[in-house]
This record gives sequence, C-alpha cells and structure tokens, in this order.
Amino acid sequence: MKMITFANSKGGVGKITLTVGVVRALAKPGKRILLFDIDP
Ligand SMILES: Nc1ncnc2c1ncn2[C@@H]1O[C@H](COP(=O)(O)OP(=O)(O)OP(=O)(O)O)[C@@H](O)[C@H]1O
Ligand SMILES: [Mg+2]
Repeated sequence: MKMITFANSKGGVGKITLTVGVVRALAKPGKRILLFDIDP
C-alpha cells in the first residue's frame, strides 16, 4: 500500500483541491484509493 500525504499548516491554500486532483489522476479501473481529510 502506498500512502501520499499533502500537508500545510496554513488554511485555505488548496490542500483538498490538490489532493482530489491527484486522486483523480491516479484512479484506474480495478484499483482502490482511499482519500481522507484531517482537519484540526
Ligand atoms: N489553484 C487554485 N487557484 C485558485 N483557487 C484555488 C486553487 N486551489 C484551491 N482554490 C480555492 O481555494 C479555496 C480553498 O481550497 P481548499 O479547500 O482546497 O483548501 P484547504 O487547504 O483544504 O482549506 P482548509 O484549510 O480550509 O481545509 C477553495 O475555494 C478552492 O476552490
Ligand atoms: Mg481542507
């Protein structure tokens, strides 16, 4: 299992926007991706 983390202590800088774009680019048939967002 590969894990990629996008983190930045500043709010509203596009963490989720970037993450969703990368997940869409990596998505392939037969491959499962778990995306989760952790906010303080
Ligand atoms: N490259 C970009 N250019 C312009 N606007 C952007 C870009 N990336 C993200 N945004 C906009 O900035 C806002 C914040 O983006 P996003 O929610 O992805 O950031 P975040 O770092 O996850 O925020 P938070 O700290 O609140 O969780 C959204 O309105 C999003 O549409
Ligand atoms: Mg966010």
